[in-house]
Amino acid sequence: MEVIVYNTAEEIGEAIGKIFVDTVNARHDSVLGLATGASPIPTYNYIAKAYQEGRVSLRDVTTFNLDEYCDLPREDKNSFYSFMVENLFSRTDIDMNKVHFLNGNAEDIDAECARYDSAIEAAGGIDLQILGIGTDGHIGFNEPDDHFSEKSFRIQLEQSTIDSNQKYFGDVPMPRYAVTMGTGIILKARRIVLVATGESKAEAVQKMIQGPVDPHCPASALQEHGDTVIFLDKAAAKLL
Ligand code: PGA
Repeated sequence: MEVIVYNTAEEIGEAIGKIFVDTVNARHDSVLGLATGASPIPTYNYIAKAYQEGRVSLRDVTTFNLDEYCDLPREDKNSFYSFMVENLFSRTDIDMNKVHFLNGNAEDIDAECARYDSAIEAAGGIDLQILGIGTDGHIGFNEPDDHFSEKSFRIQLEQSTIDSNQKYFGDVPMPRYAVTMGTGIILKARRIVLVATGESKAEAVQKMIQGPVDPHCPASALQEHGDTVIFLDKAAAKLL
């Protein structure tokens, strides 16, 4: 994996945003893997600006988001679907018929996860995947475990993840379960870019890059991916 350290989150957003824009301009029907959270927002700001300036069109791309909460209506302002509409989709010409999410409210979650994995394959696989990383080393919602996950599945969230994300829900308790692309599915993406900023990520970043490949730090699986670039600010890189 390649590691690049920048001064600010905005510079990282510009660098990754350019990779997305170049990817889509090289192949207008690219398949993009998308993430939520604070980390990808500067990237989405860059892509939206590039669209507004006529430098890219997302009309023909297909997207797959990494994960979604269970037990939360899709229309809830805190769903990852709503996050993507607000931060990227409504700011571009993306075709909402080509936007894909796991349904965390499906009656048969196993069937829903199998449907999602098949849909990614049927689309030809993901060309470019953006990831954040949790303070516990999670990617998507693959929390630390004794084994790496393969296929998409339903997971009980770690307390550290709940502590990080409860702020978005105010006084309402946030969901305890989510559905996520499995680590094996994420690793099938042809190209992966991961962004981590801030001191709270420094320990997970150090384990991901310099620790052993270990499912207790799910992001360490990226060491075995042939085309991954890690974008860090100085605070997230401070233990390297
Ligand atoms: P964050 O979340 O971008 O909001 O820090 C990253 C993650 O949990 O994967």
